[in-house]
Amino acid sequence: METAAMNFQPSWSQALVAKTAREFASRVLAPAAAARDRHGNFPEAEMRELGDLGLLGVCVPEDHGGAAAGPVALALAVREIARADASVAVTMAVTNMVAEALSRFGSVDVRARLLPRLCSGQEVSGSFSLSEPQAGSDAGALATTASAVEGGYRLRGSKLWVTSGDQSGVIVVMARHNVPEASTDARIARRISAFVVERGAPGLTVGRPEDKMGQRGSSTVPLTLDDVFVPESAVLGQPGQGFKVALTALDGGRVNVAAQAVGIAQAAFEAACTYARQRQQFGRPLAEFQAVQMMLADSATALDAAWLLVMRAACAKERGVPFTASAAMAKLFASEKAVEICDRAVQIFGGYGYTREFAVERNLRDVRVTTIYEGTSQIQRLVIAKHVLAEIAHA
Ligand code: CAA
Repeated sequence: METAAMNFQPSWSQALVAKTAREFASRVLAPAAAARDRHGNFPEAEMRELGDLGLLGVCVPEDHGGAAAGPVALALAVREIARADASVAVTMAVTNMVAEALSRFGSVDVRARLLPRLCSGQEVSGSFSLSEPQAGSDAGALATTASAVEGGYRLRGSKLWVTSGDQSGVIVVMARHNVPEASTDARIARRISAFVVERGAPGLTVGRPEDKMGQRGSSTVPLTLDDVFVPESAVLGQPGQGFKVALTALDGGRVNVAAQAVGIAQAAFEAACTYARQRQQFGRPLAEFQAVQMMLADSATALDAAWLLVMRAACAKERGVPFTASAAMAKLFASEKAVEICDRAVQIFGGYGYTREFAVERNLRDVRVTTIYEGTSQIQRLVIAKHVLAEIAHA
């Protein structure tokens, strides 16, 4: 585990990224967040503006069109955006994850042609397509195939739960090489590769958007790939290394889901504090009752602890040291605590909290999925247990 001393004070440039995100969130996102949730409006214009602000390629080098501000700045930005609108936060976070994967593993063509368009918002969003009907937590069981053809591959299969899959100009699709069982090329036989599929590729069909409990402004769709052609230059990393590419991307993604959970919970907590000071019962504000103070104290402590875990993981990523377990711990703790904090906020609001009149109702629906996507809490525990057991064995 990463134990070196860490300074959680943001640098000048990290603070500037956070301030940019905060101002955009309060000026543009917050006023329309309830309407986006109510009508399921995808934030296309908002994504383009995030691109203009440099918030879609936060960890991407400047020569690829990114902001090169690093993972701490990204976590700070995601938290600010999620405080206003979780749907925009997930769309932005997944786009950043895809942009970083392209920057790290993409061919010269992918980096030169697609990355600047993705980072600037021209492509609206990026999508990450790993899950399938029979391969969710067991991601390695995916059945989509990639058959080698002249100049590239043809992809065939069905994908599920693709965030922004109907909106994105760039979709990273994981598929398994379709080679004869007796293939002599054992190195890549039956192994997974990550491919870049572009908007409108012939054979790519988008299914009906999911009717979700929360994050309703973000779109989540199934995809069908019917002999979709991709050139050799569309492979991310080496052929056969796609599972590693996916899990490496998810390590960073999990830090951002944790930051997103903290942002949503912070919004609910702040609303609960304000409400507790205003609402009078038994002749006094709710905030003067110890029962309510205990609830607020538990939420404040959990929020701080969750954010410290997020910062530890982001700092480790920034320093280039292993952070798989730190990311899993941050996601596990932050998402589980954020659900509790949002639930407590609804409780403090009482009956009003159960209505759409107050944003805590949306916060509770929005936060629930953070314990599920990019690896459930149960998968995070598996990842953490694997690492701590290996660490102790090597001690
Ligand atoms: N980074 C790089 N490589 C890694 C890695 C990591 N964090 N974790 C594992 N690997 C490598 C291993 O070294 C191993 O490599 P070799 O084959 O060369 O030895 C390979 O990946 C397989 O590792 P495991 O044997 O540990 O894999 P597994 O199949 O037993 O299970 C798992 C791994 C942790 C359960 C993994 O499948 C997992 O994380 N599942 C959850 C999937 C997930 O998060 N899905 C979310 C999809 S995205 C989404 O939610 C939608 C969205 O758009 C938001």
